[in-house]
Amino acid sequence: MFVDSANLTDVAEALDRGIASGVTTNPSILSKEERRDYREHIGELIELLSKNGRAVPLSVEVFTTDPEVMIAQSEDFIDHFGHYDALTIKIPVGWEELRVIATLAERGIAVNATCGMSLNQALMALNAGARYISLFWGRIRDTGYDAGAVVSDVRSIMDRGGSGSEIIVGSIRHIMDVNEAVLAGAHIVTVPPQFFPKMCQHPKTDEAVAQFVGDFEAWMK
Ligand code: E4P
Repeated sequence: MFVDSANLTDVAEALDRGIASGVTTNPSILSKEERRDYREHIGELIELLSKNGRAVPLSVEVFTTDPEVMIAQSEDFIDHFGHYDALTIKIPVGWEELRVIATLAERGIAVNATCGMSLNQALMALNAGARYISLFWGRIRDTGYDAGAVVSDVRSIMDRGGSGSEIIVGSIRHIMDVNEAVLAGAHIVTVPPQFFPKMCQHPKTDEAVAQFVGDFEAWMK
């Protein structure tokens, strides 16, 4: 599981609980944090992830639609955050953007091809050298398509071709989306942190724990 957030407290809470195998951000997610130089904010995220002692992939997305500027922004990310081995640059999938994905991949930079909604897009991004293909579960469903079918089709062509890349399912709107995405074949699901506590809860667990503690306390009296 990855954490779909740029919030330092939320990421720290997920790291403390051992459930953050990676962190994904995008310009909208960053814009939810207190306004500041984004480089400082990403720098603090990297500091937090570095304390953890293992390389936790961190996706940072370009914030332009111009492919030339995407390359310039990616180079700027590498200048500022390239010391962090697990830095991953997010590039949206698109015809012009494939040049960016291919250029970065050729330079050995891990690319998270993002905003993927279809098998065609996944095929293109993976062939261009993307390390991750992000498929947007909630947004696919918004268009009336079956997100589970997209994820399982992409997974089956990746497995068939022996791909070393991974599917990240994002755009999670309900805790059930996480289960469905995993069962459909996602290698990774990136989850908004507000869902984590809910994913641990079950009324029968509360009932069982209350009974065990209550029985033992009664017996000890
Ligand atoms: C994933 O990497 C994205 O950050 C995110 O999940 C996008 O989802 P949204 O539909 O909530 O914007």
